[in-house]
Amino acid sequence: MKITTIKKLTAKEKALAKIRFVEKGPELCVVGEKKETELTVVAKKAKVDARVLRTLIRHIAQTAHRNHIQKLVIELDSTAFPKCKEYSAEWFWSTVAENLILAEYEHIQYKSKKPKKYLKEVIFVTTEEAVAKKGITRGTIVGEYTNVCRDIANTPGGDMTPQGLANAAKRHCKLPKTKVTVLNLPAIKKLKMGGLLGVGQGAKDKPKFIVIEYNGLPKGKKEKPTVFVGKGITFDTGGLQLKPGMAMYEMHMDMSGGAAVIGALGAIAKLKLKKHVIGLIPAAENAVGENAIRPGDVLTMMNGKTVEVLHTDAEGRLVLADALHFAKRYEPKLIVDIATLTGAALSAVGQHANVVLTKDRALEDTLRGLGEESGDYTFPLPLWNEYTQYTKSIHADIANIPVDGGRYGGTINGATFLSHFVDKMKWAHIDMAPRMTSVPSDKLAKGATGEPTRLLIKIAEKY
Ligand code: BES
Ligand code: ZN
Ligand code: ZN
Repeated sequence: MKITTIKKLTAKEKALAKIRFVEKGPELCVVGEKKETELTVVAKKAKVDARVLRTLIRHIAQTAHRNHIQKLVIELDSTAFPKCKEYSAEWFWSTVAENLILAEYEHIQYKSKKPKKYLKEVIFVTTEEAVAKKGITRGTIVGEYTNVCRDIANTPGGDMTPQGLANAAKRHCKLPKTKVTVLNLPAIKKLKMGGLLGVGQGAKDKPKFIVIEYNGLPKGKKEKPTVFVGKGITFDTGGLQLKPGMAMYEMHMDMSGGAAVIGALGAIAKLKLKKHVIGLIPAAENAVGENAIRPGDVLTMMNGKTVEVLHTDAEGRLVLADALHFAKRYEPKLIVDIATLTGAALSAVGQHANVVLTKDRALEDTLRGLGEESGDYTFPLPLWNEYTQYTKSIHADIANIPVDGGRYGGTINGATFLSHFVDKMKWAHIDMAPRMTSVPSDKLAKGATGEPTRLLIKIAEKY
């Protein structure tokens, strides 16, 4: 999709499908759907805040597509939306572009007959052309790489193996000042990553440890990096404690955290941020087989701690633990891990928020704020010391689930387990399981949402 700007509406553009904003009636609707020349958006501009803006833009793009409209002309100025003034005009235009691009995405990789893309061009008539162009440039990159994340996450487990994920990282992060290194089984063994090795030992496809490093700092300038760690379980059967029935549905998306790290690093490099950012993805398949880990097995992790595997389906925390320990070598200023870690996160917040857990209150607030700004909404749960007791083990140093089975606080227990591997690093854990797949009110295609790619880019820009 081409997104352009002009100062004045000419006769030529007048002939195209035109968006008209009307200040009455319900807040969010596009009427005149049958007409091919005009879409009327009924939206009280004074009520359109950041959240409404996103769904409104998506709705416009989808309505245009449904009506087979190829070109749209929209008269738009950020100043007409007082509730969006909290952020800059550049943010406004970036948000508009991002959401046009997110709305046009469909997962068509496996369709033998590719569906037609109707909306080819959107022309904005605006008095703020300079800042609009700047915002649209950023938003286009952010939107496109979020869609890269969605493509990776939507790919079935049979194709998106640990090697497949490594290939995706190499393909999408083949950019200036960016280096992708893939550690194979011997290297992972040498590092003694017992968690990653243990989880991966039941599968035919061997685990990989993917390192993406982007250094956009000016020559001579040194700065501690930000490290993103993404869960890369390419399929989660649950292991020997096999997931029942529908619980295994969509578990090819258990590498969504890793996909978001690839998408974010690609975008960060493309945006040429003057930052140092590292992405780490421990990739493995949690399979069933004669070599799979058993409940009760004890793993020795990279940091030397022993872990009693009380549940083979709590595998994400095992692979992330080694990656978090590995991250220490970079002496990062901040480390954020992103994982589809627990079903309990969905019980806690439904499907409308990522969950953030950190012991650092200021960081918690920052991430919540950046969640609002980016569109990847994020809400906190506690990570207090009271919860450490639930990681006690009878036979080893710690257990991957509470010894009593852990009926309560599953998301907190997962984060508490990870906290044993971060020591003094500034760290936040994002359980993105609630946002793994879209819900109808998102006005996005079914399947992966691409979250929290936008949030990670925002963290890299602002932290
Ligand atoms: N990948 C799952 C969590 C998940 C569930 C993500 C639903 C997205 C949607 C994770 O590995 C898992 O199985 N967690 C267990 C933990 C339990 C054994 C303590 C869970 O949530 O049931
Ligand atoms: Zn699992
Ligand atoms: Zn999992």
